[in-house]
Amino acid sequence: MPAQQHIGVGLVSVGWMGRVHARAYGAVRVHYPDSPAVARLVSAADVSDDARAYASEALGFARTTADWREVIADPEVDVVSICTPNFLHREVALAAAAAGKPFWIEKPMGRGATESAEIARAATEAGIVTSVGFNYRHAPAVARARELVRSGALGPITNVRVSLLADYSADPRGALTWRFQTGLAGSGVLGDLLSHGADLAQYTVGSIEEVSALTERFIRERPLPTDAAAGHFSLGAESGPTGTVENEDYAALLVRFASGAVGVMDSSRVAVGPHAEYALEIYGTLGSVRWDFQRLNEPQIANSREGYRTVMAGPDFGDFSRFQPGQGTSMGFDDLKTIEAQLFLRSVVEGRQLAPSASDAWSAAEIVSAALRSDESRSWESVARVEGSTTLDL
Ligand SMILES: NC(=O)c1ccc[n+]([C@@H]2O[C@H](COP(=O)([O-])OP(=O)(O)OC[C@H]3O[C@@H](n4cnc5c(N)ncnc54)[C@H](O)[C@@H]3O)[C@@H](O)[C@H]2O)c1
Repeated sequence: MPAQQHIGVGLVSVGWMGRVHARAYGAVRVHYPDSPAVARLVSAADVSDDARAYASEALGFARTTADWREVIADPEVDVVSICTPNFLHREVALAAAAAGKPFWIEKPMGRGATESAEIARAATEAGIVTSVGFNYRHAPAVARARELVRSGALGPITNVRVSLLADYSADPRGALTWRFQTGLAGSGVLGDLLSHGADLAQYTVGSIEEVSALTERFIRERPLPTDAAAGHFSLGAESGPTGTVENEDYAALLVRFASGAVGVMDSSRVAVGPHAEYALEIYGTLGSVRWDFQRLNEPQIANSREGYRTVMAGPDFGDFSRFQPGQGTSMGFDDLKTIEAQLFLRSVVEGRQLAPSASDAWSAAEIVSAALRSDESRSWESVARVEGSTTLDL
């Protein structure tokens, strides 16, 4: 086995995503024994006592703190995972960049394009590699879709459909957490879900240049949370004060790609029925490919003679063989994060950007920003081009 570099990990916020990041770092060692780096879980920060206890007892962090600044300052912390609510992303990311520490940040990276640009530029100026939680691009089926586009097997791409429908806010009793407040979250479903779709579309088909969009809020009032730690799926008080939902539940976009392809994208956080139906469909003159996260390992591929075949992802799809030896044994969400963690650790050791980058997140934020402008202006809006985004090289 080649010599492996030990990388000290600091984690800021031990909520849903923080726990997934920590598990993913640990899993790199077993799924990628040839990785040039292995992670050591050094320090985790959270304001919640329970979360800190979980970080040391279950996840195995050597120390914990309530103050995230101590994580950044810790001399044994080489890289930082930023899994805070959106309103803390900028402050933590800028501090990590100032300390010269590469970071893996959750999406949406900033509360808008301006903040995302600031974070991406800080990383570039600090000369650090980054990673962003665009986990769906790591699905082996998406890797195959990208190959099919790049090899020309689908012919010139004509149109793309991306649809991200979720029900996590479908219950009107769901608490008015930070996610529904513009000052704390930025946009609503656009940043939370559609940014994943924007990245998937750009990762597979290339950059989006123009957008026409509408957005809507369907649930305009929600009960206030009963405790400060309310998360994605928490219900509010049954009776009591309510507050205003400030950002969109739904968005629909028409898009034009630089390649000449066109597309439609939509996303809802209040769809009753689909739980996490995150679908990517790419149509070309010779064939098409369709994939849905809820059928993670079952892309459908068609050519002009045969129509659709459902193909089980297997060892020759992306990094599938790192997880299972044969077709039909499914991978899951944590595995996508393990691929992301491995790309991040390799990026750090090799000094080159392999994981989805802060510039990619800024690029997705520019699509969200153009969609919000289009919703206001009721006209087409251009998407600002982002230097350094790896999604633009098709
Ligand atoms: N990549 C994905 O698919 C995906 C999925 C879900 C969430 N996310 C993103 O991950 C981020 C976190 O979301 P989540 O669902 O894990 O949230 P969560 O509510 O589960 O966890 C947030 C954590 O932050 C902690 N926290 C709050 N203030 C803090 C502070 N000052 N210092 C340290 N910790 C603090 C809370 O105590 C909590 O433990 C968000 O940006 C979200 O958009 C990404």
